[in-house]
Amino acid sequence: MGRSAKLTALVPPPRAHLTRFHGIFAPNAKLRAQLTSSGRGKRPPADEESTGANGDHRCPDETRRSMTWAQGCLNFLCFNRISAVPSGSWAHTQTATAGDFMPLSATPALAQRTALMTPIGVERMGDAADGLRNPRVLRLENLDTDLLPPLPALELTVSEVRNDDANSYLPFFGHDRLRRAATRLVERNGGLASEHYDWRRQCFISAGGLSGILNAVLALIDPGDEVVLTSPTYVGLINRVKLAGGVPRYARMLPGPTGWRLDLQSLQDALSPKTRAFLMMSPSMPTGAVFNREEWKAVCDACIQANAWMIYDSAMERILFKDAPRLNPLQFPGMAERTVTVGAASKEYRMIGWRVGWILCPLAAAEVIGRVAISNVVCPVGIAQQAVAVALETDDDGIASCAATWQARHDFLVTALRPQFDVIPAHGGWSLLIDFRSRGISGAEASRRLMVEGVAATSMENWGLDETAGFLRLVYANEPLDRLRDIAPRFNRAFD
Ligand SMILES: Cc1ncc(COP(=O)(O)O)c(C=O)c1O
Repeated sequence: MGRSAKLTALVPPPRAHLTRFHGIFAPNAKLRAQLTSSGRGKRPPADEESTGANGDHRCPDETRRSMTWAQGCLNFLCFNRISAVPSGSWAHTQTATAGDFMPLSATPALAQRTALMTPIGVERMGDAADGLRNPRVLRLENLDTDLLPPLPALELTVSEVRNDDANSYLPFFGHDRLRRAATRLVERNGGLASEHYDWRRQCFISAGGLSGILNAVLALIDPGDEVVLTSPTYVGLINRVKLAGGVPRYARMLPGPTGWRLDLQSLQDALSPKTRAFLMMSPSMPTGAVFNREEWKAVCDACIQANAWMIYDSAMERILFKDAPRLNPLQFPGMAERTVTVGAASKEYRMIGWRVGWILCPLAAAEVIGRVAISNVVCPVGIAQQAVAVALETDDDGIASCAATWQARHDFLVTALRPQFDVIPAHGGWSLLIDFRSRGISGAEASRRLMVEGVAATSMENWGLDETAGFLRLVYANEPLDRLRDIAPRFNRAFD
């Protein structure tokens, strides 16, 4: 089958209501008319809705300024070059209800704090891959895993549905058993004395790790403060810093044939009198880079030098490949009193859907983090907490054997795609990056070509410094080895 025929088979036709003008969503005339009307239930019939043939893709400034939330969502998708949205999808639903919003003239101003936030890309790729409804598509675009959570956690989840205590707002900061277990875990992994933390005052359960990160940045930084992250880094972390009014500063990671190394000079260059916090992760997402002792020491020294907070994202801390060092900032002198650890059940324990994370912080930060936590998600998911507590308590958590399985998949991909492609090996985590700069194409173009061959993978523009636009991420946690076997021919066809 020729490439264009395959593309037609794999990718549904674009929805005409998603039109673009200079990367900004501009509704077609019919949708604009709905948005300016005050009536409800003004959705046109589906066939009319998808015409959009007026050729007028201009969006007057006034209209653009007055975008409703629904438009904003579509804007977000279109800015991210959505070309195919399956009907019945989230974007489609939002369009259908756009006419329900108030007239433009009455729309209040939008908050500016989202202005600098950028698309993630994964949601676009996930929707596009889902929309293909083709089981042959390799799902390497999203951080997911096919490996099961610890069995005792699964069993307890089922019974918790009938537990009245789990169906309560209390305790606001999380169930005692889970707070104790999370506190012990962070103490153990950090090499701290047991009861270093008072779990009643210094441990907060959050609705997933990323919600915990947001709580931490909201509590610790003021608008205009600078936060040091590595580049590449997860754009969801960058956006959370921006949402809190912070300014990201990047320490570069340098790609090489054996993996990523921190550019120590760029770490120094990222510091300024405005540095208020570091937001660090190892193994890191998306690179799978694992800091060695020298790198952690440099980061911790810089943090102390700047008298800054260390927000440590420990979500993948023990997803380490053979021989990767198991280090974290709590193990370095002077760091315990400035480190806020944010953990998650999603990755190590494969409990993504439970939405449970934890924050362990020094006493000096506890009051403010508690204020944010209670103002954000009250309370964490009740029916999930006991199950996560059990996962944290059991010796049979499966983390080491899952890490070995993920490493085998990683190693297979590296071997299969080298030397034709600049694959930068990971040393842990769930994903690796391929550098397409030497081929003169962007990660976005690589992603588009691979989708034609049924490989869903997310490009890295916006995930740090501008140079990240040349990279593509492959998630190796989600597809078993036997499904990865024909990855090399698929790549070769895409880039012939
Ligand atoms: C960088 C990073 N940190 C932490 C997490 C864990 O967050 P959550 O528990 O909310 O899924 C994720 C999940 O994707 C992540 O990408």
